[in-house]
Amino acid sequence: MKIGVIMGGISSEREISLQTGQEMIHYLDRNRYEIVPIVIEERADLIAMVKQADIDIVLLALHGQYGEDGTVQGTLETLGIPYTGSGVLASSLCMNKLLSKMLLKAAGVYTPEGLCWRGMDDYDPKKVDQLGYPVIVKPNMGGSSIGIQLVQNEKELLPAVQEAFSLDQVILIESYLKGTELTCSIVDGEVLPIIGIRSTHSEWFNYQAKYEVNGAEEKVIQLPVAIEQRVREAALASYRLLQCKVYARVDMILCQEVPYVLEVNTLPGMTANSLLPKSAAAAGLSFTQLLDRIIDSSLH
Ligand code: DAL
Ligand code: MG
Repeated sequence: MKIGVIMGGISSEREISLQTGQEMIHYLDRNRYEIVPIVIEERADLIAMVKQADIDIVLLALHGQYGEDGTVQGTLETLGIPYTGSGVLASSLCMNKLLSKMLLKAAGVYTPEGLCWRGMDDYDPKKVDQLGYPVIVKPNMGGSSIGIQLVQNEKELLPAVQEAFSLDQVILIESYLKGTELTCSIVDGEVLPIIGIRSTHSEWFNYQAKYEVNGAEEKVIQLPVAIEQRVREAALASYRLLQCKVYARVDMILCQEVPYVLEVNTLPGMTANSLLPKSAAAAGLSFTQLLDRIIDSSLH
């Protein structure tokens, strides 16, 4: 089978995508696949490069906008080329933190309280006072924690808001919940072992904690049975509600025994430091087997 690994792209997560792509290529089974790396430098590259490669399926190693957000998925659908992971709608919804949180909330899944601002005209520190510090300020459609800041007081608010608006037209200001950061990987509707995260040098799981070696301790967490059940149910409910397919990773904070869903990632990182491969390994699934499952499931 000829497989095109699409990576790079033009989002702020380009570097991470290149790492995901390299890791995937390293572990793909050479006996099963003929591998065609497709590195996207700009938007116009995609159609020509994919057509020229004449492949049976695209393995998506893209992250962020123009990759994880449904646009590339839509292009591939139009071209009639199979690709891995979720479809257009789930990809778009999950990239949009505001809309996915609204749907989760409506379905009874817990997610941190927050505000949404659509420009500096909305800037209103009194509203943040009402929400209560500390808060987390996020670009609505970011990834890898790029542009996200933990804000402890009003003095820190303005620069964080300006930074987030430099990356997105819509930003979220969410209550910062103190608890245990967890992540639930789902492959083919199966929840893999839950990983607990303890950032080594920072209060929360920021970019450095995510990608620097020893930036965080990430280990399968043993939770009391009833709480583990709650975490699994919240992850699966989010995955199903947002119509994810094949695989995804649901990030949460467990606060006073309640799992709060932060977001669902439809193309989770697959770098050497990423969580999904760790969770798969804990389930006895090697990186190579994980890729086989993702590819097989995407073709059915
Ligand atoms: N957005 C990064 C790649 C992740 O979720 O792992
Ligand atoms: Mg994300």
